[in-house]
Amino acid sequence: MKFFIDTANLDQIKEAQDLGILDGVTTNPSLMAKEGITGEANVTAHYKAICDIVDDNVSAEVIATTYDEIIAEGKALAALNPKIVVKVPMIKDGIKAIKYFTDNGIKTNCTLIFSAGQALLAAKAGATYVSPFLGRLDDISTDGLALIEDIRLIFDNYGYPTQILAASIRGPLHIVACAKLGADVITAPLSAITALLKHPLTDSGLATFLADHAKASGK
Ligand code: E4P
Repeated sequence: MKFFIDTANLDQIKEAQDLGILDGVTTNPSLMAKEGITGEANVTAHYKAICDIVDDNVSAEVIATTYDEIIAEGKALAALNPKIVVKVPMIKDGIKAIKYFTDNGIKTNCTLIFSAGQALLAAKAGATYVSPFLGRLDDISTDGLALIEDIRLIFDNYGYPTQILAASIRGPLHIVACAKLGADVITAPLSAITALLKHPLTDSGLATFLADHAKASGK
């Protein structure tokens, strides 16, 4: 399973990259705004800076919502760096644009997926990734993990190569559940990824090992 970090914060991206387990980054307009990145030149420079840190897979979201504008914006984003994956919203013009990008060798991530039918359409259009938002479904008392399970079944039934990128992850248990269900990728905040490191028995066990070693060494 690939691990992406869901942030536009360069320090957090570097920290995850240094951990040696990072496969990519997802951003969205809200995450860019959170870092105070506004204006075309700054946004472009920021995507380039992210690409300089990670090995591959940097999702950059279009702001446009009409076909011609999505194509123009997506082409410009893809031209910034071969690591860029053009993130396109699940709307009618977005699906048409994903088909165009697929036919022209541009990788895509279809975002804001909340139903299996939406994921099926995006796969038909040839999306490289679909992003089901499981945390936001959980927030409205709908089972986000059940959506991941349904999409996995549908993609496997037909051998769609589109990868399931589980998004809107809220914590470490979401990550483990996605791994059990066969998601191809998770994208999560740094806090959810580093929470996977933690277990109280690991901490107490290590403290005991070090204390026993010190005692035996006469320290
Ligand atoms: C996915 O690519 C989105 O950026 C993200 O996972 C949304 O998560 P949120 O629901 O925490 O905003």
